[in-house]
Amino acid sequence: MDTARLLRTLPSLLAAGAIALLGAGVVTVVAHAGAAPPAAPVGAHGGGHGTHAGHAGRSVTDLTGPRDGVPDVAFTLTARHAAVTLPTGATVDALTFDGTAPGPELRVRAGQLVEVTLRNLDVDEGVTLHWHGLDVPNAEDGVAGVTQDAVVPGGEHVYRFRPEQVGTFWYHSHQDSARTVPRGLFGVLVVEPAAGSGPDAVLAAHTWDDVGTVVDGPARRDTVGRVRLVNTDSVTQDWTVTGGPFTVLAIDGTDVDGPTPLRGTVLRVPAGGRLDVGLTGPATVGIVDGPAVGFGTDPEPPAGDGPVFDPLHYGTPAPPETGPFDRDLTQVLDTERVTQRGVPSIVWTINGSLHPEPATVTDGELVRVTIRNDGTDPHPMHLHGHHVRVLSRDGVPATGSAWWTDSLGVEPGETYEVAFRAANPGIWMDHCHNLAHASAGMVMHLLYEGVSTPFEHGGGAGNTPE
Ligand code: C2O
Ligand code: CU
Repeated sequence: MDTARLLRTLPSLLAAGAIALLGAGVVTVVAHAGAAPPAAPVGAHGGGHGTHAGHAGRSVTDLTGPRDGVPDVAFTLTARHAAVTLPTGATVDALTFDGTAPGPELRVRAGQLVEVTLRNLDVDEGVTLHWHGLDVPNAEDGVAGVTQDAVVPGGEHVYRFRPEQVGTFWYHSHQDSARTVPRGLFGVLVVEPAAGSGPDAVLAAHTWDDVGTVVDGPARRDTVGRVRLVNTDSVTQDWTVTGGPFTVLAIDGTDVDGPTPLRGTVLRVPAGGRLDVGLTGPATVGIVDGPAVGFGTDPEPPAGDGPVFDPLHYGTPAPPETGPFDRDLTQVLDTERVTQRGVPSIVWTINGSLHPEPATVTDGELVRVTIRNDGTDPHPMHLHGHHVRVLSRDGVPATGSAWWTDSLGVEPGETYEVAFRAANPGIWMDHCHNLAHASAGMVMHLLYEGVSTPFEHGGGAGNTPE
C-alpha cells in the first residue's frame, strides 16, 4: 500500500508531523532531534537515573557490537531465490537464506562473540538481518533505513554481537519485510546457556501462500524436554499439547520462574512470539486445526478446546515494578475506515496516525507504556532492542513470574501497561508485527535523546524496512 498516497486521501491524518515524517522518513526524525539544543539535559525526566551526558550526539553507526576480536562462532547466510520443498511435500518458489526456508538454524552460546555475514545473491528487494527478540547493539539491529542500508544483490553486511540472553529467537529480513518474510527470508536463532543444556526441538510454523500453515520440525522426534514454538507469521497461532501434562518454560526467550503443569491449555502465540514448552513424556504438539508433530508417539489431532494460557498469573509470583517511572508513554491502537479512490478500506493507526512521531527517551530512564487497542484487530506489538515487562492487563496486575515479552498480542478492547529500562541507546523500531499493518504505516520509533542516523528511507539503497 502506498501510505503517502493514502495519507493525502485521509484528512484526519494530515497532521503536519505525520506528513513530514512520511516525506523524509527517519532523516526527519533526526532533524527533529538535531533541532533541539544539542546534549540538552532532560531535566524534566532525568529522575535519579542520570542522563549519561557523555552519550549525547552519537550516530547509530557508532553503536555497534564488538568490532575487534576473533569471533567464537561465525556464519555466512546468502539470500537467494530457490525452489523449496516443504514438509508437506509441496514445492514453493521461495526467497531463502542458503537455499532453505526456514533458513539455517543458528545455535550459539551466551557470551560468545557471534559474527554473521549476510550476502545477497539475487534478491532484488534487498535484504537485511534483524535478530527478533535479541537486544543487540543498535547498529546490529538490521533495520533498513534506520540502522543500515538494505543489502542489494552482490552486496554484503557483517553483524557482530555477543548475546547475553538465553532462549528462543528468530531472524528475518527487515527490508520490504511484509513481502519478503512471508516468502521465506527468516530462520530460527537459539541461544543456549554458556555451558550445558538439555535436549530440545524447534518447531517453526509458517504460512505459505497457496499451501497453508506448515510446521518445520526436527527429523528425530523422540521425547524431548523442551520444544521451542516459533510463530513466523503475521497472525496469532494457537498451539496445544496432547498427551501428558506440560509446562511453559519460557516466553519470548525469557524463562518462567516456577512453571506449573498444564493440560489441554491453548497456547496463544502472537505474531513474532515464541513459547518454550516442557514435555514430561510422549506428547503431540500442534496448531489447533493445523499440523501437529508427535514426540515419542504418533501425532494426534490437537484438541484446542481448553482454556487459553494466561502468562499474567503463571509461575512463581514476582511483583512487578511499581515505579516511580521516569517517563510515561501511551500507544492507542486503532482501526480506521478510509476511502481510497472510492474504494472503502481499512488502515491501522497508532495515536491516530500512520508513521506517528517517534517517542523520545533518555538513556537510563525507567519507562512505562500504556498500550490500548481501540480497534477491531489484534496487534502484536514489537519493540526492538528491549524487552518489556507486563505490569497489568485491563487494570488487573500481573501476579505470576515476571512476564517479559518482545511480541505482545494486544486484542481488541485490551489495555496493557508495560515497563522497560531504556538502557540500549539507539533508534529502535516499535511496530505491529502483522507485517501488512506495519507496511501500511503502523510503525513508530523509540528515539534515544541525542542519537542520529545517516540512513534514510528510500535513498540509493531503496530502504523500505516494512
Ligand atoms: Cu521481527 Cu521489526 O521485527
Ligand atoms: Cu496490527
